[in-house]
Amino acid sequence: MEQVINYQLNNKNRFLSELLDLLRIPSISADSAYSNDIIHCASEISNNFKSSGLENVCVYETKGNPVVYGDKLINNDLPTVLVYGHYDVQPADPLDLWESSPFDPVVKKTVLHPDGAIFARGSADDKGQFFMHVKALESLIKSDSLPCNVKVIIEGEEEVGSVHLENFLNTHKEQLSCDVILISDTHIFSNEVPTVTTGLRGLSYVEVMVEGPNRDLHSGLYGGAVPNPIIVLSKMISLLIDDDGKIQIPGFYDKVENLSQSDRAEINKVPFDDLTFMNSIGLKGIEGEKGYNSLERTSIRPCLDVNGIWGGYTGEGAKTVIPSKAHAKISMRLVPHQDPEEITNLFTKYFKSIAPESVKVSVIPHHGGNGYVLPSTDPGYIAAKKAMEKTFGKEVLPYRTGGSIPIVSLFEEVLGAKSVLMGFGLDSDAIHSPNEHYGLFNFYKGIETIPYFYKYYVENKK
Ligand code: BES
Ligand code: MN
Ligand code: MN
Repeated sequence: MEQVINYQLNNKNRFLSELLDLLRIPSISADSAYSNDIIHCASEISNNFKSSGLENVCVYETKGNPVVYGDKLINNDLPTVLVYGHYDVQPADPLDLWESSPFDPVVKKTVLHPDGAIFARGSADDKGQFFMHVKALESLIKSDSLPCNVKVIIEGEEEVGSVHLENFLNTHKEQLSCDVILISDTHIFSNEVPTVTTGLRGLSYVEVMVEGPNRDLHSGLYGGAVPNPIIVLSKMISLLIDDDGKIQIPGFYDKVENLSQSDRAEINKVPFDDLTFMNSIGLKGIEGEKGYNSLERTSIRPCLDVNGIWGGYTGEGAKTVIPSKAHAKISMRLVPHQDPEEITNLFTKYFKSIAPESVKVSVIPHHGGNGYVLPSTDPGYIAAKKAMEKTFGKEVLPYRTGGSIPIVSLFEEVLGAKSVLMGFGLDSDAIHSPNEHYGLFNFYKGIETIPYFYKYYVENKK
């Protein structure tokens, strides 16, 4: 390990400057205006794979954005680790809320990051995190210390639901066969309390539309006598959750697992407190499902949120109008065993059932995905915990988080392997928000920790 550590120390600055180069490419998957940047980004990553010592490097075309693949296969008798990450990023808007340009990375010090943090879209989600793996592998390969086989896939559609990756997995099943999948696309509890993520939530995402009159109406001539789609939609939304924070869709909780007291105690080991939580997002109070604390509400319990709502006149000044249509985007975060398709159907049935006869309601399903849990007895979990304990010098706790990475459950289905979620971000990194950043401490700690994962994983397998 000494050689690996020395290699990392000697190449520290170059690792950072290579990452900054990747962050300059606006690889936004949601907006087709950036499709050339997507292709450019995939090609730069493949070049970096090659110079890092990975072999069989290839940019695979899909029906969507390309997948970058590389591997280093040293011995059939040794275990194989598959590394997964994504190079696509969320759109940067609202641009005026960024303190520096989203695709012109700068390193700045903050209270939480006294060593500096890289401010750029994708710095934490996920370029800065998958790139730790490429550099950790480079240091292992270049110092002849790689203890097992490794395969790497970096995709370009995670932020839009990984729609074409399932087909890629099915058509490259043999090529991607592995013992375990290693992913850094999540966060730790804090730099003082390192954690390994043991659970993700699933997702069901729908768009709804309420249609009233066949055209926009003068609100003076018609107001009072016709259904206003925005008011109808608001009333329907208010019927989705009751005052105890329970989702009212019949059957919604049927498959939700009730955790044992000991499992709940395990989850509550991280030093979470409501006041810090409230202050970190500028809230004066919190709410949620009765009977659970905020940590549980955001991890082991499902939830329903309105992500956007629109209709009618929203421009400057006043326009007296009753709109013909009203729209909303609604997400439901699910827990393991809840089936996203089934939940979408239950939602649709209920939503239509609570609509007054005077309007027409449609529900359009968007992408979804299953939740995921990794038991703390899993060899991959144990290796990750040991690796982080080695480099942080602190006890590592399990951490269930509320975000989603839909491909993780598909990996299990198609490749039959468990994913270890060893992310190094912080929840304060502002991923998907203006001023996204990733701590230099976290970037380098990741590069330092990953080689130990390989070491402990292989030792344990012998
Ligand atoms: N990396 C995130 C997911 C995440 C972040 C999980 C932090 C746990 C902790 C990922 O890129 C993401 O944003 N996923 C989407 C889902 C996708 C289908 C758009 C999400 O969770 O909203
Ligand atoms: Mn991500
Ligand atoms: Mn994301």
